[in-house]
Amino acid sequence: MTAVDVLWHDLECGAYDADLPLWRELATAAAGPVLDVAAGTGRVSLDLAQRGVEVVALDADGGLLDALAERAGSLELTTVRADARDFALGRRFALIIVPMQSVQLFGGAEGRAAFLLRAREHLAEGGVLALAISPVLEPDGGDPGGEPLPDLREIDGVLYSSRPVAVYGDGGRIAIERLREVVAADGRRQASGDVVWLDRVDAATLLAEGEAAGLRALPLRAVPETAEYVGSTVVMLGG
Ligand SMILES: C[S@@+](CC[C@H](N)C(=O)[O-])C[C@H]1O[C@@H](n2cnc3c(N)ncnc32)[C@H](O)[C@@H]1O
Repeated sequence: MTAVDVLWHDLECGAYDADLPLWRELATAAAGPVLDVAAGTGRVSLDLAQRGVEVVALDADGGLLDALAERAGSLELTTVRADARDFALGRRFALIIVPMQSVQLFGGAEGRAAFLLRAREHLAEGGVLALAISPVLEPDGGDPGGEPLPDLREIDGVLYSSRPVAVYGDGGRIAIERLREVVAADGRRQASGDVVWLDRVDAATLLAEGEAAGLRALPLRAVPETAEYVGSTVVMLGG
């Protein structure tokens, strides 16, 4: 990924903080090392490491992890470039987290099954795996409803803006389409589209998949919705 890709990732994911209290609570209860899966530029990893938690941040994208490592400075945080469906770190964790619906990016039931087996192999005895999923996304025929506010950032006089413009489905997956715009200091404007496909999965299915991988179903948790973001269900599985 390029610096511009890192910028879009930060712009579209970085401001979300409604889930941080839950990850902090789970990390405190776990009282051990945390594996943050699909960590991106470290929105959650950095927050936990700043609170004294030992964190390993795993992501498939080396560019995002480079930005994360630079931001981590001297914090107790290690980055690992790996696919969530195929990693072997040779150690176990008290808590494994998959924030922000990233488990819905792993390639359907087959990808989730591969990840859940890897997660089980990396959970300490009594450890917890927590996965945030989006329960409410439904296709809207292309109209996201109302006019969602854009995520905005100005850097050196250049304005970057990203906003969701459509949600549509193809059966097992749902697409969120965003319009990305860059407005230069002289007013020149460039626009491009970006589409993220999320696998549809509900909590009962994910719990059953976790049990099939040898994990234990635990009570669900939730991240509340805010004025700007949908809420999420957090599926909890024990090692
Ligand atoms: C929505 S971002 C979430 C970033 C971060 N966890 C957060 O909450 O801000 C999704 C992340 O999943 C990563 N990702 C997607 N598929 C992956 C896979 N198969 N293995 C590892 N990382 C993956 C992407 O590179 C991206 O950083």
